[in-house]
Amino acid sequence: MSTPVYFDCDTGIDDALALAYLVAQPHADLRGIGTVSGNVDAAQAARNTLDLLAVLGRDDVPVAVGEHDFLTHPYDGGAPHVHGANGIGGARLEAADRTVDGRSAAQLLVDLAHQHPGALRVVAVGPLTNLARALELEPRLPGLVASVTVMGGAALAPGNVSPVAEANIANDPEAAQAVVSAGWPVTLVPLDVTMAHVLEQAHLDRLAAAGQEAPRVLASMLGQYFEFYRDIFGRACSAMHDPLAVAVALGTAVPDAAPRVPVVVDTGDGPGRGQTICDLRGRYRGLADHPEATCRVVLSLGTDFAEDLTRALTAPVAATAAAGA
Ligand code: BDR
Ligand code: CA
Repeated sequence: MSTPVYFDCDTGIDDALALAYLVAQPHADLRGIGTVSGNVDAAQAARNTLDLLAVLGRDDVPVAVGEHDFLTHPYDGGAPHVHGANGIGGARLEAADRTVDGRSAAQLLVDLAHQHPGALRVVAVGPLTNLARALELEPRLPGLVASVTVMGGAALAPGNVSPVAEANIANDPEAAQAVVSAGWPVTLVPLDVTMAHVLEQAHLDRLAAAGQEAPRVLASMLGQYFEFYRDIFGRACSAMHDPLAVAVALGTAVPDAAPRVPVVVDTGDGPGRGQTICDLRGRYRGLADHPEATCRVVLSLGTDFAEDLTRALTAPVAATAAAGA
């Protein structure tokens, strides 16, 4: 049985990998994509997404432009030092010959939730502004979706844009707090695991040498990302933040530890702004689920996800996943 999915992204190099991985999963039924400002602005993220979908043979998927500014503050120019000025590492994709959906991303999400009540899986790999706006639009949304999986936060690991904050959450902490407190089942896929699963040069070489266009296009984006991570890991390689969130959402990567615990986002103006404060005090007695918590926090994941991702992206089906498969 196929799983209807709404994907929210700020495309972005690892967002592009995540999207390619998502469309390569035969049991995922990608029903719509919303873009949000983060790595680039929401409009550029939509252009990148449309162009990549054309490469992936998925021109059937609606792409809606989401929020340009964050809930309480304006977008401030993104992360060109990480993802390049165009968000996809300077790769030049052929322009898709279609345009965006007329709805806002929040409206698209609400519409899909009503079309697939109780079944829609939401996967968010950018700032959570669109999801927060969708909650404002439709207060019944938490009861309509099956799950919300978020690439974001840092539980016990250090942050990546401050000592304690991860970029997606730090860009819009108020939106993140609205999402983690909405009562729907949220799974956070934080830096604790996304920095532990790394794409190495040998994986990149396999993407670059693949017979199909899609993995070669992805490889052409990754040079910039590999160089950014050279300073962080001491070698050219790449964390796999967003694809890992997709894999957790779809059950193709199964965490070893993902306790359900209280999570609060720091929305103050001090040095902790954007921190995901996860109550992991139970770790010394085995981290049982907290009875009232609605948020799972993925702490470890033992599979060789770099290999799984490379295989999925280079399998013949990755380039040709049929529309509506
Ligand atoms: C997250 O921030 C963005 O730069 C990436 O696309 C990923 O979603 C990692 O902190
Ligand atoms: Ca992202």
